[in-house]
Amino acid sequence: MEKFIVNGGRPLAGTVRIGGSKNAVLPVMAAALLTGEKCVIRGVPRLSDVAAMEDILESLGASVKWDKRAGVITIAADGRLLPEASYELVSRLRASFQITGPLLARTGSVKIPMPGGCAIGTRPVDLHLKGLAALGAEIEQEHGFVRAKARRLEGAKIYLDFPSVGATENIVMAAVLARGQTVLENSAVEPEIVDLANFLNSAGADIRGAGTDTIKVNGVKELRATDHTIIPDRIEAGTFMVAAAVTGGDVTLTNVVCDHLKPVIAKLKEANVSVSETAKGLRVCGAKGGAAVASDIKTLPYPGFPTDMQAQFMALLATARGTSIVTETVFENRFMHVGELKRMGADIKIDSRSAVLEGVGRLMGAQVRATDLRAGAALVLAALGASGATEIDDIYHIDRGYCQLDQKLQSLGADIRRVNDGA
Ligand code: UD1
Repeated sequence: MEKFIVNGGRPLAGTVRIGGSKNAVLPVMAAALLTGEKCVIRGVPRLSDVAAMEDILESLGASVKWDKRAGVITIAADGRLLPEASYELVSRLRASFQITGPLLARTGSVKIPMPGGCAIGTRPVDLHLKGLAALGAEIEQEHGFVRAKARRLEGAKIYLDFPSVGATENIVMAAVLARGQTVLENSAVEPEIVDLANFLNSAGADIRGAGTDTIKVNGVKELRATDHTIIPDRIEAGTFMVAAAVTGGDVTLTNVVCDHLKPVIAKLKEANVSVSETAKGLRVCGAKGGAAVASDIKTLPYPGFPTDMQAQFMALLATARGTSIVTETVFENRFMHVGELKRMGADIKIDSRSAVLEGVGRLMGAQVRATDLRAGAALVLAALGASGATEIDDIYHIDRGYCQLDQKLQSLGADIRRVNDGA
């Protein structure tokens, strides 16, 4: 088991390049199952979640070649595909449920384990299944598996009760090869949805309106080979922005789309952090003359404040001047990091879906545990700003979604080391 040891208190400085988006590449990899022709995906980050998706696609019979140095994955699902995924592989990451729509559309049937809950909530898939059923799939659930069957899917009008990212992706992927038109209303509008639609359209799909709350998909007979570059990761970018803020540093980010970061930029500015677009990239300078100032946050679907940045902002607001209220509306149990931040001296009270933070000026190093991916990132940020040493256990959660976080932070002057517990 590996852990991070962080000696806090050093302002970060320099330039960091942001990698490709985890949440964009995973559905795009699943979407490659829709064609027997070769799909080249560029800008792929080196993450354990991507490796898990690679294993799943290979287990279904697709050929996956990952050039990690170049950040390029080539997928060819040209042989006969096995329409069944194993529990061992699928339980490694929830995004694996995104193979359901493509497999169903391509092979006419799919058997996949129900994804369980996880640390941040129960995370049901009812909206995914409702959408696939509306496209004509027969769906059964038994012994922990979902079975879906359809000789050919038929376009339909579907209204999502909640703009779920995963359900929007699964339904759009299934609709691409359906007969006729699908209209998906109240769809998610996240940039990762737009990236998926761009990938599919470049392979011959006819998807319009991605990035708005109504997506229209005109079914096509087949998709063809394509070559696509993944968008930059807005959550990795946001995490480095908070790292600059929490250490009072001066960091420039390259390979970012500022438009995707609007809520994060707005909230950092509100907290008295300077953010500016320069010729070199997006520059973030921590609050001058002391801590940031308190700011209230409410997580919402895009373009609202991202739930995936909530924990990292708490690391900043825990030391900000004044009282902040952070409200989590997307997931029901996403305050696992609070107990760990309190071990570091934070003053946080949880009342149902809100957390009230009284800024304490400075946190203290302590021994803490990453409970999930973004909670883990938040602890790294808290440790960077804290006095003394922090030991963060269970960092495999962090490696799921951050490529070489320790090395990138070291290049900005952070004192962070990865050590093996057994060593
Ligand atoms: C994706 C992201 C995740 C991010 C989340 C919200 C990926 C791989 N993951 O997750 O990082 O935090 O969007 O921005 O892209 N829900 C239902 N029924 C469903 C589906 C969802 O009730 O069928 C609920 C969920 O339990 C949750 C909310 O809807 O409370 C949002 O979930 P969703 O947008 O689907 O998130 P994911 O696609 O799982």
